Amino acid sequence: MHFRIIQWKLNIRKENRLKRKTFFNRQKARRVLFAQDLYAAEAADGVIMESKKWKQSVIYQIYPRSFMDGNGDGVGDLTGIASKLDYLKDLGIDIIWLSPIYKSPNEDNGYDISDYQDTMEEFGTLEDFDYLLSEAHARGIKIIMDLVVNHTSDEHPWFVESRKSKTNHYRDYYIWKEGKNGQPPNNWGSYFSGSAWQYDETTDMYYLHLFSKKQPDLNWELPKVRDEVYKMMTWWCDKGIDGFRMDVISLISKDQSYADLPVQEGNLYGNVDRYLANGPRVHEFLKEINRKVLFKYDLVTVGETTGVTIEEAKKYAGFNTNELNMVFQFEHVNLDNGIYGKWTDKRVSLVELKKVMNKWQTELEGAAWNSLYWNNHDQPRAVSRFGNDSEQYRVISAKMLATCLHMMKGTPYIYQGEELGMTNNNFDKLEDFNDVEIKNAYRELVEENHLIAPDDMIRCINKRGRDNARTPMHWSNTENAGFTTGAPWIKINPNYKDINAGSQIHDENSVFSYYKKLVHMRKQEPLMVEGTFHLRLPDREDIFAYERIIKNEKLLVVCNFTEKEAAFEVPEDYLKQNCKKLIGNYSGEGLQKIMKLKPYETFVYKQSLII
Ligand code: NOJ
Repeated sequence: MHFRIIQWKLNIRKENRLKRKTFFNRQKARRVLFAQDLYAAEAADGVIMESKKWKQSVIYQIYPRSFMDGNGDGVGDLTGIASKLDYLKDLGIDIIWLSPIYKSPNEDNGYDISDYQDTMEEFGTLEDFDYLLSEAHARGIKIIMDLVVNHTSDEHPWFVESRKSKTNHYRDYYIWKEGKNGQPPNNWGSYFSGSAWQYDETTDMYYLHLFSKKQPDLNWELPKVRDEVYKMMTWWCDKGIDGFRMDVISLISKDQSYADLPVQEGNLYGNVDRYLANGPRVHEFLKEINRKVLFKYDLVTVGETTGVTIEEAKKYAGFNTNELNMVFQFEHVNLDNGIYGKWTDKRVSLVELKKVMNKWQTELEGAAWNSLYWNNHDQPRAVSRFGNDSEQYRVISAKMLATCLHMMKGTPYIYQGEELGMTNNNFDKLEDFNDVEIKNAYRELVEENHLIAPDDMIRCINKRGRDNARTPMHWSNTENAGFTTGAPWIKINPNYKDINAGSQIHDENSVFSYYKKLVHMRKQEPLMVEGTFHLRLPDREDIFAYERIIKNEKLLVVCNFTEKEAAFEVPEDYLKQNCKKLIGNYSGEGLQKIMKLKPYETFVYKQSLII
């Protein structure tokens, strides 16, 4: 009896010790997660290895309106997405970034939200979302949601109230100012053309909208607004989502002086992107988001940080700044801008592109983490912009671009259809376009100010407009590309007959199979995740070459960005034994001193030096 009591007490003590240990380990893991440090996570007694997942992951962006229509109404939806999860599993991606699915009047295709805790009717119901999330999780795929909280829709109940009177409870949820002599309060320009201020008759005042006038900016200075946002974020986290992509998060803190901003050549308004982004309290707000919401969950976070600089990125995505896991920078996709911003048909110079990529690769090293992307729902198709979308070179150049991106340091993003080598469209009439940005720019630059001729503008829109990325996904060569059985909400690119998933998934030479190989390679090749980046031949206009190095192991990545042959001198180390080819878009193996690269050729070799 006595013995059993002692044994019982010993067991209790052991249990308590275990509980304490688990508690401390959890605390440790939490601190580690909070510090977001890959190596510290590994050191935490193996308690939690999740935190480094976002570095090893490949993220796939879905633009729901154009991905897959499950009910035949011509608009993509949640059940449509769920029906394609096996395709994504086969591709091997780890995380889906879901562009907005929330209730919205659709001024900006869901980036104008009228209810954060409901779905857009055309996309389905919250139950459909729960089903999608559980089916994704069942396949080991995470889902991160778009968080659009710089602004709401003007149809959000907060704004409907806010505009009613100066004393309304919700008045200060938004940014209202008096005009100046019948003009807007200052010269700030909207990203979607025109002034960033809209006059509202009811109270004879202006409200701020950095995007469309149907997207009023929230007033982040007001603690109540921030609390509402945190409550809503917590609600989604409790549902089990896996993170957030934070829309224009670098714009949430406004300089409270509301002074005029410098006007760039060719512009009519003050440049918000350059002078307003990364406002005075943005880092304080992001730290607060972490303290109030994020740290309680195991999440992946990425900030869309327009106007971000290296110094700012180190704060947003620093390994121990407690803000975000990574950021999207914009420098490489703004290189081909002209005096009217993106409305040009200029092609980017490879030397400039390498310079920008090199800067982000090397200057964030050891301090913060990059997101890697060539395209998304706001950018033209990668192969048309940086590669060559002619029949002859589309496939080979799409593979080259994929290699160039996935081998760099950071988390690669694939935008729907990129893995098939989908191209830009070629619409010839303004009516064929849907995008609010395009329509407003056409009105301002062509119709109102006659700065660009109509045909020239259509040509520029076909090069740089956002609808290039928004035409429906090509699933098959059957009617409407297998996207819908109804009438598609926007024209489908007629080249779906040749470029589609159906013809690529079982073809080992397809763009799809090549992406699949790259995505899987990332899981096996720590060099792809952790190697430091070293640019070679910065001044060559034809070749993008770099190495990734960890101690005595290194990768050599060589990409010919042109349709001409290009000679490349292979560094000595790679001519020794133990050098093996990891991937390439032409057959053949083995390196020689001088390699003659074929049009758009790429190869990656790995050297493990014996020391
Ligand atoms: C950035 C999004 O990516 C874009 O699609 C949207 O129009 C603006 N933010 C406004 O939300």
